[in-house]
Amino acid sequence: MKKIIIAIDGHSSTGKSTFAKMIASKLGFTFIDSGAMYRAVTLFAIEEGYIDNGDNIDTDRLKAALGRIEITCLNYPDGSSVTFLNDRNVEPDIRGLKVSSLVSPVSALPFVRDYVNILLRYYGTQDNSVVDGRDIGTVVFPDAPLKIFMTADASIRAKRRFDQMESKGEKADYEKIYKNVVERDYIDSHRAVAPLCKADDALVLDNSNMTVEDQLVWVDEIVQKRFGLKLS
Ligand code: DC
Repeated sequence: MKKIIIAIDGHSSTGKSTFAKMIASKLGFTFIDSGAMYRAVTLFAIEEGYIDNGDNIDTDRLKAALGRIEITCLNYPDGSSVTFLNDRNVEPDIRGLKVSSLVSPVSALPFVRDYVNILLRYYGTQDNSVVDGRDIGTVVFPDAPLKIFMTADASIRAKRRFDQMESKGEKADYEKIYKNVVERDYIDSHRAVAPLCKADDALVLDNSNMTVEDQLVWVDEIVQKRFGLKLS
């Protein structure tokens, strides 16, 4: 039987991954983090020396080497997930600053996108899944039976990130964060390959003034109507 795909796309800092993980765990679906796959490819490129000190990517060598890598994601019942690169748990490494600063140009390479899309589509045939990213409902799974586009007011997203940093004891500058949120929105939606945009048939979830609980109630009603399923 064809597996159910719930595609979750949207702006940065809208809590997409947290929301996607929660839905997956409450429905017993697999959570697929497409951003983690782009991050794993980026880590591989860094470790293999395909990115020089000037951040130039040796695209020929990276392209030729992609056949040597295997990326897998393991889900745990508590909703957490771990990414493996050739059987190595790379979860902490792919979230680090180095990968974060280089994942954008790596994920803009068409052959990298093709590679990740093949993986995503393969995983999507294995299990009912909640997949989060930027182009899931538009490019990767255009036939997904439920597409959600998450957004929130830029000032609210900046405030959330500011609070998150402060709570970790990190130095935070609200104005700078706000500027970064606006800039990332622009870059994400104006890049040449697979820009972030809402699929025509996606439902918009503007969580500016919603708690996580509110969002779960919202999605529960939708999955009940659409699939006859209930969040646990
Ligand atoms: O969601 P994230 O921050 O982990 O994503 C990491 C990077 O990958 C980010 O620069 C956007 C990119 N990305 C993408 O281009 N397409 C996706 N489907 C998912 C992520």
